Amino acid sequence: MSFAAKSILEVHDLRTYFKLTEGTLKAVDGVDFAIAPRQTVGIIGESGSGKSVTAQSILQIVPTPGYIRSGQILLSRPDGSTTDLCQLDPRSRKIREIRGAEISMVFQEPMTSLSPVHTIGAQIVEAIRLHITRDKNKAKGLALDMINRVGISNPRQRFDEYPHQLSGGMRQRAMIAMALSCSPSLLIADEPTTALDVTVQAQILELMKELQDEFGMAIMYITHDLGVIAEIADEVNVMYLGRVVERASTRELFKNPLHPYTQRLLKSIPRLGGRGRRLEAIRGNVPVPLNPPAQCGFCSRCDEFMAGVCDAAVPALVDMGSHHHVRCYLHSQESEPVHA
Ligand SMILES: Nc1ncnc2c1ncn2[C@@H]1O[C@H](COP(=O)(O)OP(=O)(O)OP(=O)(O)O)[C@@H](O)[C@H]1O
Ligand SMILES: [Mg+2]
Repeated sequence: MSFAAKSILEVHDLRTYFKLTEGTLKAVDGVDFAIAPRQTVGIIGESGSGKSVTAQSILQIVPTPGYIRSGQILLSRPDGSTTDLCQLDPRSRKIREIRGAEISMVFQEPMTSLSPVHTIGAQIVEAIRLHITRDKNKAKGLALDMINRVGISNPRQRFDEYPHQLSGGMRQRAMIAMALSCSPSLLIADEPTTALDVTVQAQILELMKELQDEFGMAIMYITHDLGVIAEIADEVNVMYLGRVVERASTRELFKNPLHPYTQRLLKSIPRLGGRGRRLEAIRGNVPVPLNPPAQCGFCSRCDEFMAGVCDAAVPALVDMGSHHHVRCYLHSQESEPVHA
């Protein structure tokens, strides 16, 4: 698979499994995508499609009993070299240096990355002292500057407050301040606005776009909300059952969705002025990928299922032109090679 000449991150055939007593759960089962510098790449899919496990794999924080079975995660480093993150020990110093400094992450729930027992200021200072400067005063200056930049009012007062003293939106801003305090080249955002009301959500999205322009970072934005994707992403990867089933520029994906799953997803979003119209939910649930058969994962829910074709092998992700990729036998006969 070929990617744009200079990517900040390239993920090749990533497979992340969980070894359970019932069998092997294939949370990520052959994922490829790339992110160019300063680009915003969206990852969309229903609950359980493998979005978070993909992010955890990149950061090497997959919880046990999960492990990366195979694949490459190539990160371009500031010195021009490339490191395969899959080759690093998750506990190594090298990955700890990359986490937070070159790649950082914001989550849906700020309290998963903010400690309740330390002030906002102390936590941002700590991140800066770990990666940028040991000098306490310099670190405090940079932290105050960051708190100010993410739009938190009264930075000096907020600096000494604890996370629980802030509103949800302000906590989210504090987490973003911490994530960006070391100017990462890639920010991974996993549903960072899902828990917020729509007004605050719009403000946070706006803030992330502003900071992206200012800091020049790339963003991998994970969400199940197509409205958010339309707002923020340049390109979209649609994930289903551990695989990318469609990829295109955001514009192209909304105009010309090719995969039956993407078409259903688009039908399930409310349209402006379409009030009163019932949304069409997608029939059935995402299956659990426990010992999954080698077939198209969407088989069991697809209106266009072709017996003997879709359930006989895994369709390949094929470029239909202009970088619009789809993994579906309605569009190409090509299958993935059989994977042991
Ligand atoms: N710690 C774990 N142990 C066992 N299975 C897990 C674990 N974490 C995730 N999984 C499984 O891996 C698959 C992918 O999960 P993942 O959390 O990546 O989904 P997601 O796309 O992020 O969903 P959501 O939108 O709900 O956040 C699911 O089948 C899930 O049950
Ligand atoms: Mg998730």
